[in-house]
Order: sequence, then C-alpha cells, then structure tokens
Amino acid sequence: MSISCVILAAGQGTRMNSDLPKVLHQVAGAPLVVHTMKTASAIGADRIVVVTGHGSAAVTSTVQAWEPDALTVEQTEQLGTAHAVQQARSALEGVTGDVFVLYGDTPFIRAETLEAMRAARRDHAVVVLGFEARDPGRYGRLKMTDDRLEAIVEFKDASPEERAITLCNSGVICAEAENLFSLIDAVGNDNASGEYYLTDIIAIANARGLTATAVVCDEAETMGVNSRAQLADAEAAFQTRARAEALENGVTLTAPDTVFFAHDTVVGRDSIIEPNVIFGPDVTIESGVRIRAFSHLEGCHVSRGATVGPFARLRPGAELAEDVHVGNFCEIKNATIDEGAKVNHLSYIGDASVGARTNIGAGTITCNYDGVFKHRTTIGREAFIGSNTMLVAPVTVGDRALTGSGSVVTQDIPADALSIARAKQVNKPGLGKRLMDSLRARKSAKKEH
Ligand code: UD1
Ligand code: CA
Repeated sequence: MSISCVILAAGQGTRMNSDLPKVLHQVAGAPLVVHTMKTASAIGADRIVVVTGHGSAAVTSTVQAWEPDALTVEQTEQLGTAHAVQQARSALEGVTGDVFVLYGDTPFIRAETLEAMRAARRDHAVVVLGFEARDPGRYGRLKMTDDRLEAIVEFKDASPEERAITLCNSGVICAEAENLFSLIDAVGNDNASGEYYLTDIIAIANARGLTATAVVCDEAETMGVNSRAQLADAEAAFQTRARAEALENGVTLTAPDTVFFAHDTVVGRDSIIEPNVIFGPDVTIESGVRIRAFSHLEGCHVSRGATVGPFARLRPGAELAEDVHVGNFCEIKNATIDEGAKVNHLSYIGDASVGARTNIGAGTITCNYDGVFKHRTTIGREAFIGSNTMLVAPVTVGDRALTGSGSVVTQDIPADALSIARAKQVNKPGLGKRLMDSLRARKSAKKEH
C-alpha cells in the first residue's frame, strides 16, 4: 500500500517577527519543514506534497532543493486546515493508500508514532494523533468513547465540559486517500473562526458509519514552533535527543551539554567528542576518532583513528583518512588528507590533496585564491613541508620532497628534492649593536632637550 504525506506549511508565523517564512527557520541546521519531510521519507512515503502559502516561492525552492521529488501546491488564502489539505487533491490524483496530514512547523513527530497510526488504520477509517496535555490551553479536544473517537472540538467552539478534556489533538491525521477527500468535501465553515476545520472530518466520518480512533504520543513529539522562544526550545529538545542517542551509540561526550549536532551528524562507536564541539550539516565521523575541544566541523568526513583539534575547523570537502592528525588553529577546506598525514599547527589547507604520512609544518598555507580563481595544491606522500611555507597554487610538491621554512613556493617541486624559496641569510658582524647604540643615543638626546 502506498503512503502519501501532505505537509501543511502555509501559515505566516507572525509571532516569529521575521521576513523568513516560519517553516524555513532552522533547527539543527535544517529548515523546520525539512525535518517533517525527513520523517515522511522515514515511513516510506511515495509522495510528499507540501502546501505553501506565505512566502510560497521561498518555501517551494527550499523544499525542492532538499527533496526534488516532493511536490508543492500553493494555498493562496488560508481558509483553514481542511481547505489547506484540499489544495493537495490534484497532486494526489489517482493515489490510493494512506495519506498522512503533517505540519511544517512540528518537526519532532517520530516515524514510529506514524507507524502506530498506520497499524490503527487497519481497524478504523480515520486515525488522529493525540496527546495528554499538561496545559490543554487552546488545543482541539478529542471526544472519546472507549477507543472510538467521536469528534474533535476546537477550543473556541467547546463547551466548559469539553474544555475540561485533557486529551488533545496534535493535528496529525491519517486516512485513506479517497475517503479523506470525500470527508473534506463535507466540511463547512460555520464555526467560531469561520474556517474549514480538518478536525470536522471525525464527526462526519462517524455520521457516515465510519469509525475513528486516536493514537496517543508523548507531548514532546507534538512540540510546534510559533515564536523565536519556541524555536530555541525546539533546538534544545533536538540537541538533548541527539546527545542521548550519541551516548547510547557508544560515543563518549565529555560534556554532553556543550556539544551541538546537526540533523544528519553521524558519529561512530568509541569516538570521543570533547567539550564545546559544533557540528554543521553533513558530517560523518568513523569510529575511534577523537574530536578535541572547541572544534567546528561541517561537510566533512573523518576516518577511523584520526584526531582533530583542539580549535580546529573542518569545512566542506575536508576528507581525513585514517590516523590523520589535524591540530590547533588549523583550517581544512575541500582537501583530502591521506592516512597518517599531520597538519598540526596553525595551517590553512584548502583545495588541496596531501599524501600519506606527509608532515605539514606550523603555519603552512596553501595560497589557493588569486582573487578571481581557486587553484589546487597537490602534495605527495611522505613529504615534509617546513614551517611557514606558502604554497602558491596551482603547485605540486612531489613525494618525499622537503621545503625550507619560510619558503614561498611558486614552482613545482620534484620528488625527493629540497626546495628553498626565500631570501638568502646575510650576517653583518657588529652591526646589530651599533644600530641599537645609535638609537639609544638619539632617545637620551631628546630627553635632555
Ligand atoms: C489546529 C487544530 C487543533 C490542534 C492544533 C494543534 C484544526 C481546525 N485545529 O489548530 O485541533 O489542537 O492545530 O496545533 O485543524 N495551516 C495552513 N493553512 C490554513 C490553516 C492552517 O497551512 O489555511 C497550517 C498552519 O500554518 C499551521 C497548521 O496548519 O502549521 C495548523 O494551523 P493553525 O491555524 O495553527 O491551527 P490551530 O488553530 O493551532
Ligand atoms: Ca497552531
């Protein structure tokens, strides 16, 4: 049976106080709507339809950049959640199987929870995701008789008795495609808000002799983002979960609360992450790696046994092979460092390849940018780059070659050569002392004046 997901993302998010549409604000380096899309993919959705509205062009291009197969439809006027789902009808033309209604601003619903809803769908036409609310506030209330869901009552339309119900509507719904749209067709807008409520389909289903039920999840999963404060809460919730998962997977975090993961960070078993490490998107760390304190990594791969930091920066395209050492105040970008090579102090290695067991001396810089174009530096294996070498790209350093400290290398160096590219040293006997004496004499002459 196919699965489709309709993700509602048309709302303005006024309380964000932002030029950016709400669902494009990020948690763990990915837009909110992308978190929901990832959950949809995790349950094997064959079709994802995102309903856009405010900031439609920006939301559409983000959705397509992250998931080219996702469809988007625009809801030009926000007339309610049933009206929003209705907009996805043509995109789901001819689709059979279950449709989930999900939300672009509710990133933490777990795939397992949606699987439980699918299981419940075998016995009921409509399944709603509910939660026991600590503070039911203005949520829609679920009216249950045993395991049968009779209706959802919106807070504005609820009687005092109904408002006393604490089992609330998360908004997530699952129903068979044709059924869902047929139920939505019967929804009107004669209510306190004058909106087309998706929640009305429950009473309509019951009136048609169909049954509905609720699956109950932890309230934390239903956390939505409507303000910057809630965005910060969502980030914190994500990080708490990611840290717990890392620990469970056999990763040592010396100070878990100071490590920040991205939505897709992968860290292998028996790796050690020291305090104050930040992962941007697209980082994979193999097992037995040590990431030392205050390092920042994004778009990179670190192989088994490597050591990074403290205070290292790995930028997109950094590929560290096994047992590589990258030390303090080093930046690596779009560069492969082969096994056992060392870049230990104060270096910039960009648009480069460094061969196995090569040693890059302190302060080495690949001068990769001429102001217009980027150029590559290729360094062979077992080379020894002296401290403070400037490698002016494009340039190639052969296997086992050496460079003298302070060299400015502008021409290729053959294998096994020693290259010295700096002014020759000249020593002038006695001149140092004579220079200082004359300066001091000048200073005391000034004072007497
Ligand atoms: C909705 C539910 C309520 C539930 C609550 C959970 C309805 C009628 N009510 O109420 O039972 O407890 O969510 O948070 O469904 N949206 C659109 N287009 C629209 C209207 C809404 O895309 O025309 C999107 C919004 O951007 C938002 C979501 O749907 O992400 C929910 O809409 P909102 O107006 O916030 O519904 P609630 O009043 O919170
Ligand atoms: Ca809401």
